[in-house]
Amino acid sequence: METWDAIRARRAIRDYDTTPIVEEDLNRILEAARRSPSSKNDQRWAFVLIQDRGQLEKISHVWRGAAHIANARAAVGLVAPSSDEPRVDASINYDLGQAAMSMMIAAADLGIGSRTASVHDQELAADVLSLPEDWRLAWLLGFGYPADRPLQPIKSPDRRPFDDVVHHDRW
Ligand SMILES: Cc1cc2nc3c(=O)[nH]c(=O)nc-3n(C[C@H](O)[C@H](O)[C@H](O)COP(=O)(O)O)c2cc1C
Repeated sequence: METWDAIRARRAIRDYDTTPIVEEDLNRILEAARRSPSSKNDQRWAFVLIQDRGQLEKISHVWRGAAHIANARAAVGLVAPSSDEPRVDASINYDLGQAAMSMMIAAADLGIGSRTASVHDQELAADVLSLPEDWRLAWLLGFGYPADRPLQPIKSPDRRPFDDVVHHDRW
């Protein structure tokens, strides 16, 4: 897919079919994360690829909105150091958001669907993923081929109108 098509085709996928994602494609998705920009190039992150069905099931309980992770073909846990400083946390979360979007676009380019899951239960996350002390599971991304229909550019996305969100020179 062209980049512009991949951007327009990406949509949050909750139901995945059973087609496996080949290792080469998973590595490309992870490489997209690794190449993402970060504040001062600090790269305060780690990416945990989860493919084991038991692990996917367990980690899907970190938040009730993470149920789709249980039937994903693979998931990536975006892991980051914990910080008591809101400014540092905000900066890390911005970086993680960029890494997440890079992965989702790289996946869409391959026809692979994805969906973010928030994480609430940090104790469970640390236990399931054996995280080092003072690291947290910030987000999960589920990946798999869409069960409903293949990804293709969406003509009218469910978004606020262009003129409502775009301002020129000043608000
Ligand atoms: C920061 C963030 C957190 C999200 N958390 C969840 C979640 O916990 N569970 C879920 O099913 N979807 C989650 N989503 C997916 C959004 O609900 C979805 O992207 C949004 O409704 C827009 O739909 P679209 O991606 O198909 O355009 C999250 C998305 C973002 C960006």
